[in-house]
Amino acid sequence: MNCPAFAELDADALAHSRRLVELIRREIASSQGWIGFDRFMQLALYAPGLGYYSGGATKLGAGGDFVTAPELSPLYSRTLARQIGDVVLLSAGDVLELGAGSGRMAEEVLLALDDTGVLPARYLILEVSGQLAERQRQRLRNLPERLASRVAWIDRLPDAFRGAVVLNEVLDALPVHLITWSESGIRERGVASSADAFVWDDRTANDHKLLAAARRLNPPAPYLSELARVGPALLAALGGILECGVVLVIDYGFGEREYYHPQRNRGTLMCHFRHRAHDDPFFLPGLQDITSHVDFTALARAGMQAGLDLVGYTTQANFLVNLGITELMTLTPAQDAGAYLPLAAQAQKLLSPAEMGELFKVIALGRGIDRALAGFRAGDMSRLL
Ligand SMILES: C[S@@+](CC[C@H](N)C(=O)[O-])C[C@H]1O[C@@H](n2cnc3c(N)ncnc32)[C@H](O)[C@@H]1O
Repeated sequence: MNCPAFAELDADALAHSRRLVELIRREIASSQGWIGFDRFMQLALYAPGLGYYSGGATKLGAGGDFVTAPELSPLYSRTLARQIGDVVLLSAGDVLELGAGSGRMAEEVLLALDDTGVLPARYLILEVSGQLAERQRQRLRNLPERLASRVAWIDRLPDAFRGAVVLNEVLDALPVHLITWSESGIRERGVASSADAFVWDDRTANDHKLLAAARRLNPPAPYLSELARVGPALLAALGGILECGVVLVIDYGFGEREYYHPQRNRGTLMCHFRHRAHDDPFFLPGLQDITSHVDFTALARAGMQAGLDLVGYTTQANFLVNLGITELMTLTPAQDAGAYLPLAAQAQKLLSPAEMGELFKVIALGRGIDRALAGFRAGDMSRLL
């Protein structure tokens, strides 16, 4: 990638990336010269101490590489808290947030739940990044003691859970396989290394389950796309532990038909470095985020196979409007322009079809919840999955 921000990188950051490149090259060498893209993405993002999420990069926010909805506006988390509060009440349960980023969503959700008097006994966070977990601790210890004392970090899924499980922009950061469909067959796109760079290398897919999944999708060749297995497996695992409650996943993506649409024949892989989006996952490994869109049909299927019910699926805009984001905005008087205008601009980003409103979706998969959830009252699109 031709990127002016490259010049701003300090020697430590470049050395960090070089160490990760060396680690990946060693793994490629010891794997007969080839690793699947899923493994490359796993190492680039999560190699202990060196991966993008495991290492020291700022990641979220203005000084980082990308901005998520909770970073963009407190309105987002405060609106989402309404749905979380309902689930906590209906299940008499707790909250479990996976991948809590800077901790901003946890902070706002706890404050909002406190306002409504529906506080869970525990707000659990499962975070794979030690650096982000520390950032979360620093932020959340400033909450009033009655809220801070409810927050606990866990390092694996509990054996059983009741309540609301929330994953906001987590699944897009999980490793995916890359698959090519061509006249000559289905191949897995992986990574090899030349003298001084990583290079793409397509091989016959010999993983039978992967091949079967790719055959079933069967988009018109030539076609390149991602196939996600880690995200659906995580949903299945959540389905296995959820006694009563709802798993809410919010992320960018579509149902299968749209994901593997004939016109989307270059896939959805995207990288973020200093607020620039591009499509080169080999650029500065360890210093940039690598993501792909989420296939919500695959999530629904995995959750339902694990015994969960599909409770709802809709766009972020519908979900937030159903939950009363506009009403929350009116709590700030329009006459107070200094406070109101930034909120209005944030709401526009969250809701506009040209921004996050339609690309981002919300899916709810639950067990033992016999009431419709408010977030899906109008505009439920479950039939599209
Ligand atoms: C793109 S960030 C989103 C952070 C936050 N949810 C937000 O919306 O601002 C992805 C987060 O997921 C975490 N993560 C990635 N894989 C995870 C996993 N398997 N379990 C828990 N957290 C994970 C990352 O460390 C990071 O905190």
